[in-house]
Amino acid sequence: MAQREHWGSRIGLILAMAGNAVGLGNFLRFPTQAAQNGGGVFMIPYMISLLLIAIPLMWVEWGIGRYGGVRGHGTTPAIFGLLWRNPLARYIGVLGLFVPFVVACYYVYIESWTLGYALFALFGKLPQVAAESAGSSEAYLKPFKDFLLQYTGMGTQPFYHPSLAAYFFFLVTMFLNYLILVRGISGGIEKFAKLAMPILFGLAIILMMRVITLETPYGSAVQGLNFLWEPKWHELGNPKVWLAAAGQVFFTLSLGFGAIITYASYLKRNDDLTLSALTASSLNEFAEVVLGGSIAIPAAAAFFGVAAAQIIAASGAFNLAFVSLPAIFANLPAGHLLGFFWFILLFFAGITSSVAITQPVIAFLEDEFGLSRKKAVTLTMLILFALAHLPILLPKALDEMDFWAGTFLVVVFALCEVVIFFWAFDPSAAWREINRGGFIKLPRIFFFIMRYVTPFFLALIMGWWFFQELPGYLRETSPTIWITRGALVAIFLALCGLVYLSGKKEKAHER
Ligand code: TRP
Ligand code: TRP
Repeated sequence: MAQREHWGSRIGLILAMAGNAVGLGNFLRFPTQAAQNGGGVFMIPYMISLLLIAIPLMWVEWGIGRYGGVRGHGTTPAIFGLLWRNPLARYIGVLGLFVPFVVACYYVYIESWTLGYALFALFGKLPQVAAESAGSSEAYLKPFKDFLLQYTGMGTQPFYHPSLAAYFFFLVTMFLNYLILVRGISGGIEKFAKLAMPILFGLAIILMMRVITLETPYGSAVQGLNFLWEPKWHELGNPKVWLAAAGQVFFTLSLGFGAIITYASYLKRNDDLTLSALTASSLNEFAEVVLGGSIAIPAAAAFFGVAAAQIIAASGAFNLAFVSLPAIFANLPAGHLLGFFWFILLFFAGITSSVAITQPVIAFLEDEFGLSRKKAVTLTMLILFALAHLPILLPKALDEMDFWAGTFLVVVFALCEVVIFFWAFDPSAAWREINRGGFIKLPRIFFFIMRYVTPFFLALIMGWWFFQELPGYLRETSPTIWITRGALVAIFLALCGLVYLSGKKEKAHER
């Protein structure tokens, strides 16, 4: 067995794991979800989901990853095969490659917009509008909407027509991801996280402090904070709010993607797991609840008034990031610099996540087929590059991929993880595995939570998706959706084929 890589230091590991989790979701998805789901009351189901689903799952994923890594495997096809001696296990594990890879195909593209916009902001290439029109957010935002449409080319049929700039920055972003990944775990990912994460937190704090004091004739940031945090109690009985909260903690902590398992597979046998996982999660929560909640929505409320901010929040994460925020910065002193800070913040948040979702397939090729790192990274990135043209060119492909891989299958996969570790494998061995070398001992109650409560809630969420959301999605059809679905099935089958081959190789080896 070839020697696997390891993280260089505990702080590096924690920053890399925090970088994995802190993403566009913290600064865009969290505030829009909170605003749309009851404001302050959103935080109650959010905290409960964090405690009963997310944090236990985080320990489970770290535990599964370290268990596999010690035995030479960093991805779930092989690790599930070790944990559960059933031929099915390896194929369930395919989800741990499929989900992150499909998400990477569109994530890198969105990430590249933030890089492009960062440079546009810095060099004053974003639209200019007169501050006086801010009273009408509709008119004020129009030039920025048009700019985004022009940039992504997402208005044309039958194919999108991205601008040259968008394609150029996509290539640059792919290349930057390549540069980090090809240097490996401690030399690439860890080193970059140690540089990027402190900058990211610094930028977010600067932006937060600037935004909090904003006041215009139309509103103030404080009103925005009130709107976001004032509990609307009647919403607490609404199952949609609970589901949205559970979905958000999942998304923000990168759970159910296989990416954390792969990162954790580079731990050493007796490295601390319990406290490190908790610390990385806490950093993410700080970035989400404190920083993410204090930038975009309060800024929009100050500039356009609370009512308009509500509409903006409901219009989604991309509008907030690429339309409203640049429009607000355009009329602030040092607006170019603030805009640059905002987009570089998003870019760093994005790139520390995109390397994390690309690494599982790379690790799979290295661990199971013995490819050199350089070969594995190059091959993975080439396929990724080709597949990224689906969301770049095909209308609706991005949403379709995001629904299947990023929303539905993550819950399915997370349920498989807990059940395989705490039911099919040996529950007390799983518990010991998680606690070994830990700087803190987990309270025994978490054993109970991981074995019963977490799977129960995951099954509940999965059932809800299955019966409430899936039929609607399946009914939606268009040629481009069918092309996307075909591509997704092809990717899945190709990965199954590779897993089959790796299994044969292993058997031949054992003989
Ligand atoms: N957690 C990331 C965010 O908040 C998004 C994300 C979800 C992710 N799953 C992931 C990133 C897996 C990397 C790996 O935006
Ligand atoms: N679903 C997100 C929303 O609430 C949008 C989204 C999909 C997203 N994939 C993403 C945001 C990746 C950030 C990163 O609008």
